[in-house]
Amino acid sequence: MFYICSDREFTGENRVLLAANMSGCGADGAYTANAFQTDSERIPNGKIRSNPPNKRIKRIPASHSAEAALSAKKQVTRLQPKVETAEVFQMAAEGGASYSRGPSQHALNRPVAPMSLAAVAPDPKYQVLKDVFGFDGFRPGQERVIDALLRGKHVLTVMPTGSGKSLCFQVPALVLGGLTVVVSPLLALMQDQVQALRLAGVAADTINSGQERDQNIAAWRRAVAGETRLLYLSPERLMTERMLAALAKLDVRLIAIDEAHCISQWGPAFRPEYQMLARLDAVFPNVPMVALTATADEVTRADIALQLFDNKVETFVLGFDRPNIHLKVEPKRNWHRQMLDFVERHKGQSGIVYCLSRKRTEEAAGLLREAGIRALAYHAGMDKDAREANQNTFMTEPGVVMAATIAFGMGIDKPDVRFVFHADLPGSLEAYYQEFGRAGRDGKPAEAHMLFGLADIRMRRMFIDEEASDDDRKRREHQRLGALLGYCEAATCRRQVLLRYFGEKSEPCGNCDACTAPVALVDGTAEARLILDAIRSTGARFGAAHVVDVLMGAANERIEKFGHGKLPAYGAGKGRKREDWQSLIRQLVAANALAIDIAGYGALTIADEGRRLMRGETTFNYRPTVQQKRAAKKEAKAAAAATLSDENTDLLDALKRLRLALAKQRGVAAYLIFSDRSLIDMAEKRPRDEAAFAGIHGVGAAKQKAFAKTFLEAIRAHGDGALDHV
Ligand SMILES: Nc1ncnc2c1ncn2[C@@H]1O[C@H](COP(=O)(O)OP(=O)(O)OP(=O)(O)O)[C@@H](O)[C@H]1O
Ligand SMILES: [Mg+2]
Ligand SMILES: [Zn+2]
Repeated sequence: MFYICSDREFTGENRVLLAANMSGCGADGAYTANAFQTDSERIPNGKIRSNPPNKRIKRIPASHSAEAALSAKKQVTRLQPKVETAEVFQMAAEGGASYSRGPSQHALNRPVAPMSLAAVAPDPKYQVLKDVFGFDGFRPGQERVIDALLRGKHVLTVMPTGSGKSLCFQVPALVLGGLTVVVSPLLALMQDQVQALRLAGVAADTINSGQERDQNIAAWRRAVAGETRLLYLSPERLMTERMLAALAKLDVRLIAIDEAHCISQWGPAFRPEYQMLARLDAVFPNVPMVALTATADEVTRADIALQLFDNKVETFVLGFDRPNIHLKVEPKRNWHRQMLDFVERHKGQSGIVYCLSRKRTEEAAGLLREAGIRALAYHAGMDKDAREANQNTFMTEPGVVMAATIAFGMGIDKPDVRFVFHADLPGSLEAYYQEFGRAGRDGKPAEAHMLFGLADIRMRRMFIDEEASDDDRKRREHQRLGALLGYCEAATCRRQVLLRYFGEKSEPCGNCDACTAPVALVDGTAEARLILDAIRSTGARFGAAHVVDVLMGAANERIEKFGHGKLPAYGAGKGRKREDWQSLIRQLVAANALAIDIAGYGALTIADEGRRLMRGETTFNYRPTVQQKRAAKKEAKAAAAATLSDENTDLLDALKRLRLALAKQRGVAAYLIFSDRSLIDMAEKRPRDEAAFAGIHGVGAAKQKAFAKTFLEAIRAHGDGALDHV
């Protein structure tokens, strides 16, 4: 998701340099969120500087540094049983965006009060909802969180992006009165929400390092005077002793921690400052707290519950599905062309094109403008005014396409974004979910379209390896990347893969490319059995790298140490490349035949489908990788016509259009120009010159003379195919 780089973290800068070196451009991509200023005030290691003036503050021993706390927690987390999810409710499936429209539709959540009763004593939360926010009803999930908080409970809630998490603490804040403290990681987000609340007539304030001192003092005075309902603070500002002591004297009735996954080092956007929040519960023992996030897998959820609430918390997870968003992944061939084709199909609609580097955003915006599309660029390297002007145009005018790095998007709440196009591979499935989640917030159909090339994978791997982080984190990030690749390569419903990653079961969705246009799959049952056998016979304790080593018959220390050289599986997969096996393993994970222990050491274990495969009850089909496709092509040349690889179907379409145009020109039937088989052959072989063209099925001398030039041009114009990215 959003990589939040504080000024103290070096990772962002390293990555920027790296990317810049690699591509010769000022890349920022996922890595410089410095568009967002972060609050830089923080107290080192969460230690207490002075005597706490208030007895309620629990003293933390000096040894209890952030790091010590971290490793202690890590141990505990591993040992802890999974946190019971008090209730998992999943209503998105009921039409997803058909949010409930009024109290009467909340029967799912609670018994509905008879109208007459409601008229006598109107429920204050509905009043606030209507009077302050102007909404007629709660959306799925909101009311349960609000009710629990009003009952004084701690709540952890995981709800999709754009589902309305803010309201979950804003409504109780107004119902409860007194002061609600809201913790948020980014100044931009705080300012946004404060402005929105003020426009709704709510006394909201923020104290942060982005404001003048006078402003901060005035805000604090208003809070002390009891005028403020919601006070937004960064974690580092809140967790100073002075602030805690001062707040403890005020009438704090609720604490909300937004983007709560930042507390977990298992999560995708760990912020060390967030770990200090673990003390809040002790400082404000009787104040209900709510932690909100859109992206937290089970491990991260358990970690948040433990760290913030010592597991005394009601957890609500709202379905992750955004069923109105169509999902599609395409191999990257020629991103210029692919992007233009895609955006032109959506002319007049608002959309976002995400690129990895700053330079690419400019390039993309330029290309789109040339094609007559209103496109703007957005990245952290632009000056602030230009950036804000572009964002403003995007937010307020229809039909604007923003070509942006991921510096753009956090807190963007525009209902009618119709598409999110990824010109480059995102960082993880969490990141991807966040990023495409900016589309279709109004519940109407929208598209999430991603290009995926092998060069992107290499780049991402390198980012992780070069990152200045510990090995644990690197390993986890590699596993996250692996899960994303599994999604990209999935041969079955993408939504199922995505939702399974977040711990949800679902049926094939009918609204993704794998559901609507299944690709030509290859039977890989034998290969799958080999993998399963290697995993089983090594005790299901090893990660993909070692399993592949076994299959490839590698000679190394580990193989030796565990005696794996003697297994029947050893060397059984020599006939294939390492990358093929890795891809097969990812696809087996995506198909729920294997499971990966992300929090642990990434060991592969055998999941339900895998057991069925081993028992011979089912088969396994997979999507061949680019290399596999080429190898397969050699083997099965004769069958090639029937199974055109998906990356070539676009070219085939272009060739068919050309054929039709030529046929019309000459007043003949299209098949007379070339048969389908000839066009398929061209799409597969992509001849570059006349000699190669002569080798195409059905090309004789006359056709060579008449058509070679035109078709060669079309093929060239279509780009050089996946080869460019290998
Ligand atoms: N009950 C409701 N009825 C109508 N609109 C609502 C309701 N609740 C929230 N919204 C609107 O939905 C939009 C998204 O809300 P919000 O920004 O709180 O989402 P979020 O869950 O915090 O998303 P993110 O994960 O991106 O932060 C806002 O414009 C908000 O006003
Ligand atoms: Mg939010
Ligand atoms: Zn699907």
